[in-house]
Formats: sequence, C-alpha cells, structure tokens
Amino acid sequence: MSLAEHVGNPWRAGDGGSPPGCRLVAVGSALPERRLTNSEVETFIDTSDEWISSRTGIHERRIADPEVTLVGIAARAARAAMAAGGWTAADVDTIICSSSSPDETFPSLACRLQAELGCPHGTAFDIQAACSGAIYGLALAQSLIQTGLSHRVLVVAAELFSRLVDWSDRSTAVLFGDGAGALLVGGPGEPGSEIVAIDLGADGTGAASLGTSPAPDTALPEAIPAYARAERSLNRVVFMNGREVFRFSTRILEQLIVRLAGAVGVPLGEITLVVPHQANSRILATAAGRLGIPMERFAVNVDRMGNTSSASVPLALAEAAASGRLVPGAGVCLVAFGAGLTWAGAFLRWGDTPAVVDDPGGELVSDRGRQEAVE
Ligand SMILES: CC(C)(COP(=O)(O)OP(=O)(O)OC[C@H]1O[C@@H](n2cnc3c(N)ncnc32)[C@H](O)[C@@H]1OP(=O)(O)O)[C@@H](O)C(=O)NCCC(=O)NCCS
Repeated sequence: MSLAEHVGNPWRAGDGGSPPGCRLVAVGSALPERRLTNSEVETFIDTSDEWISSRTGIHERRIADPEVTLVGIAARAARAAMAAGGWTAADVDTIICSSSSPDETFPSLACRLQAELGCPHGTAFDIQAACSGAIYGLALAQSLIQTGLSHRVLVVAAELFSRLVDWSDRSTAVLFGDGAGALLVGGPGEPGSEIVAIDLGADGTGAASLGTSPAPDTALPEAIPAYARAERSLNRVVFMNGREVFRFSTRILEQLIVRLAGAVGVPLGEITLVVPHQANSRILATAAGRLGIPMERFAVNVDRMGNTSSASVPLALAEAAASGRLVPGAGVCLVAFGAGLTWAGAFLRWGDTPAVVDDPGGELVSDRGRQEAVE
C-alpha cells in the first residue's frame, strides 16, 4: 500500500463545522550542558568528523551526565514553558508525555512529572509515536480541550537517547542526542498561536525498518567514556535501516508540507518557517529542494543537537521563537516522522507565543522568564 492510500484529509479549524483551533500558549525547552563534538566521538568510535558531517550535517550533540534523569530534564522543559506562559502547576489539568527513550514501562513519565511539578489535579499519561510524539501530543491536547475533557494541557517530549544507543555501533551511536521540549496548549480563548490544521498518519507495515532490540551482552569497549555508560533501565538499543528510513523521511516530509499548505490554502512560498523533525540535514535539504522552499525557511538545529527524537520539534520551535525569528501572523509548519512508521504535521498561525530555552551550555538568551525558569 502506498503512503498516499494511508492518509485521510488533514483536519482544518472551522472547516465543515469543525471547532476553532486551540492555542499554543507557550513553548519551553531544556538541554544538558555537555556538548559531545564529532572530534571527541572520533576518540572512542571508529568514525570521523568528515563522515558524520557529510552524511548527516551533525557537528555535535548534547549528552546528559549519568545523574540526569528523564523526569528531571522533562521537568526543566515544562518549567521553562510554564515560566514563559505564566502558568502555575495548578493551571495544568492534563499532562501528555512522549518519550522514545523511556526509563520505565510504568508508571508513566507523565505521572512522575505531575508529582515532580506538584500539579494538584487532573490527569497524566504517555503516548508513543516515536519522533512524531510532540505533534501527536499537540493534536491530542487540542482534541481533549475541544471535547471539554481538559482545559489547559502540558505536552512534554523528553529524550535521553544516549541511553538507548549501542555505543559500540557506529552506524547509530553518532546520530542521536539528549534534550526535552514542552508545549502549553489552551482553548481558543487563550492568547497564543492558533492551531489551524493537523495531519496525522501511521504505516505499521514499516515497523521493521526502525525500532529497538535487546542490548548486546558484550561489555562496552574501555575507551567509551562514563557519560556514555549511564544505566539502561529497559536494556534495549536502537536498530535502523538507514537507507530505507532516509527514503521514507524525504517523501513523507514533502507530502506533509504540501498537504498542510493545501488544507490551509497557503502557497508553499508563503510558509514563513518549517520546523521539521531534526534527523539529518540531507533529508531536510532534499525535501526543501523538491518543494522549492529555500533552506533559510527551515529551522535547523540537527547540526548542534543531533537527532533528539520526539524532543526535536519543540526544541527547534523554542529556539526559533526565543530568538525572535517568529512574528505574529507568521505561518509555521511543524512536521515530523519516525518509527512506527508514523508521521505528523501541524500548521500554526503565529500569535504571541513566548518561549524560554533552559540551556546552561548555550549562548541563546530567551525573550522572557528565563530567570524564573532557571531558578
Ligand atoms: C544513517 C545514514 C546517515 C547512513 O548514511 P548512508 O550514506 O546511507 O551510509 P550506509 O549505511 O550506506 O553506510 C555506508 C558505509 O559507511 C559506514 N559507516 C556507517 N556508520 C559510520 C560511521 N559513523 N562512521 C564511518 N563509517 C560509517 C558503513 O559501515 C558503510 O561502510 P561499507 O560501505 O564499507 O559497508 C543515512 O542512511 C540516514 O541518514 N538515514 C536516515 C536516518 C534517520 O533519519 N533516522 C531517524 C529517523 S526518525
């Protein structure tokens, strides 16, 4: 079956009696301080800066130290978004978390985050859509608000991929990084950016091309540093058919952008910013070339963060918003793809959506609330 047969029509706000779009009220992100450059990777993996940069566009990634926990980095991203949006823990009535690198089967990351943030009421649960998780979370948050089940939803995508890769497998270990991003979603009456269209899809027949398998029981080579040896609770590692995933990714990225722009009635040339899942800069350049959209209209952080799975879209969005790249009225296209296979897109009409980036190792100073987020 082709991808085209799998997909229905995108949802569009106010179309055929559908409800108005919810609002993206604020965005936040959090990164570990440690930068792992390709030159450092070269010292313990049989690879080269030249191979990694030319095949993927990645120059460095962030790696969490062993004492960092998944719920800890998720909470930092959540607090950054809440500081930006002016929400307290009592404002949140639903928490949706996404992680492709979970450290527990249960309880959910969302329940642990609820306790960590001290949210006094509401519900909390995890979703699994791999790298598409943040946009699936955004879509689900909107649906819960539209049905009246929720009013203010915190969506958090958090990843510690350094604990899911096999550091003795050079074909996957060099690709990934750690980080977290958070989105605050409120009803149509809240301030923020309007969610104008959503497109979700999955093709389970592609499950074998990207997934996890039991970790090898051989000891890691001596040269691998301590920060790449943190405990793995689920003892699984990533496997991937890189070429197959590359082909799927370029095709679906292109289709998603065309479908979303078509649903909203915006010519491709009028999309202000595409915020794509950050897997590989060659995937982005290929899709941009086929669509005729200049690369300057793509938010790119894969060069500095590597592939941070479901955290990558909110990380890139927070960075774009905090650096003043987005102004009210901008048309912003979020697009992602990942294991499942899954894909997801959302078109936002940018409003007043503040962002805070909690990055002790970075240069970017966010527009609002950074002090509160960091304190
Ligand atoms: C992973 C990826 C970068 C590999 O690039 P590629 O050009 O397809 O490379 P191949 O897998 O064909 O490997 C080519 C050679 O490089 C070698 N190689 C693999 N990893 C290497 C590394 N880190 N350093 C040096 N050589 C490496 C392979 O062993 C192979 O050598 P051989 O020809 O002697 O057997 C590319 O396929 C890709 O980006 N795929 C999509 C990945 C992705 O987006 N995943 C996440 C989706 S959510």
